[in-house]
Amino acid sequence: MTFPNPFRPGAGHPPPYLAGRTTEIREFERLLAQPVILTNLVLTGLRGVGKTVLLESALKPLARQRGWLWTGNELSETINISEEKLAQRLITDLSVLTSQFEVDRQVIEGIGFHPQRQERSITFDHALMETLYKSTPGLVSDKIKAVLEATWEVVRHSGVKGIVLAYDEAQNLADRSEKDQYPLSLLLDMFQSIQRKGLPIMLVLTGLPTLFPKLVEARTFAERMFKVITLHKLDQDDRRAAIQRPISDNKCPVSFTVPAVDEIAYRSGGYPYFIQFICYEMFEAYLGHGDGVPNPGITVAHIARKLDSDFFSGRWNKVTDRQRELLSIIASLDDADDEFTVQEISEVSKRIGGKPFSPSHVNQMLGALSEQGLIFKNRHGKYSFAVPMLADFIRRQATDNP
Ligand SMILES: Nc1ncnc2c1ncn2[C@@H]1O[C@H](COP(=O)(O)OP(=O)(O)O)[C@@H](O)[C@H]1O
Ligand SMILES: [Mg+2]
Repeated sequence: MTFPNPFRPGAGHPPPYLAGRTTEIREFERLLAQPVILTNLVLTGLRGVGKTVLLESALKPLARQRGWLWTGNELSETINISEEKLAQRLITDLSVLTSQFEVDRQVIEGIGFHPQRQERSITFDHALMETLYKSTPGLVSDKIKAVLEATWEVVRHSGVKGIVLAYDEAQNLADRSEKDQYPLSLLLDMFQSIQRKGLPIMLVLTGLPTLFPKLVEARTFAERMFKVITLHKLDQDDRRAAIQRPISDNKCPVSFTVPAVDEIAYRSGGYPYFIQFICYEMFEAYLGHGDGVPNPGITVAHIARKLDSDFFSGRWNKVTDRQRELLSIIASLDDADDEFTVQEISEVSKRIGGKPFSPSHVNQMLGALSEQGLIFKNRHGKYSFAVPMLADFIRRQATDNP
């Protein structure tokens, strides 16, 4: 017998059941209720914790239900974005909204813009937006502000509450002084300016924990401009719901035993991606595969091993021996799962014997590991692992290959 596997281990794949996150959703609801937008949203957390799906499956529908328009994109391919490219991104995303609205040509003329076309009603589409952008004098910021103001002018007559502009993987935005390109500062300046004028256009940025420090570094006022919501691992009840609801909601012919649920909840560490992964594999082992022969010999522990080879090994194999030594020292710290300092690492390295790491050496190596996406530096100058449960994996390596 085969039965469709309900679990969805994959970046941005909506889960069969979105567990928990009620507090976070309520926070966003409060932001939507602001009479004037003073606070925007930064949604942050480690990879796989569920930022993208919360944005897409919960926050977007909520905003729409409350009368907001929603547009945006993912910034993953835009590491080297320029101010001009950012402006083009915004124009493209805004025009998706405005091309749904036919407006009286008076409205367009009211924005101080005289399109060549003669029709009475016009859609403020991509081409028209582009023309407005090009014909507005000044800097990129002046031009894009003109486009945003015009966009609001065009949609406000239809009774919408406002517009949400949502950008995922926003940690990829960066100012680059050597190229004289400041897209991140541009984005922040622009929103501050239009919100001060009372335009209800809200900015929602999603990204890794490096995102918010980056924003504050670009513009100190970013500190006051955003509510930061950090997604964490799921608590015990939510873990159980994430594991069991997809089974019960879909009336699956099999279900996990109570010990299996507990074991999955434990092995996953409460990280949504790991829950989906383990559940998916367990389900496949029993029901999903083509030959229809269940394999009850597979245990959660087997699957957790598969997670090691599929998820962690690739990252581990890319680091040098010396980096592994350093990572193993970090994983042995009491605060490995939380945050740690250069000093702590260096001291422990002296205590355990072997070749010690000086603070400056640690510093330099953490820099390299950050580039590789394994570690990140938080706002207080401390470091954390950038991959969930990496410390556990490293400790397992040490036990397996002493
Ligand atoms: N609240 C949740 N309950 C159950 N599964 C979730 C939840 N949040 C995320 N997931 C699952 O976890 C995985 C990673 O989610 P994703 O949104 O891509 O993470 P991120 O954007 O933070 O890297 C996906 O397979 C998704 O279906
Ligand atoms: Mg994501």
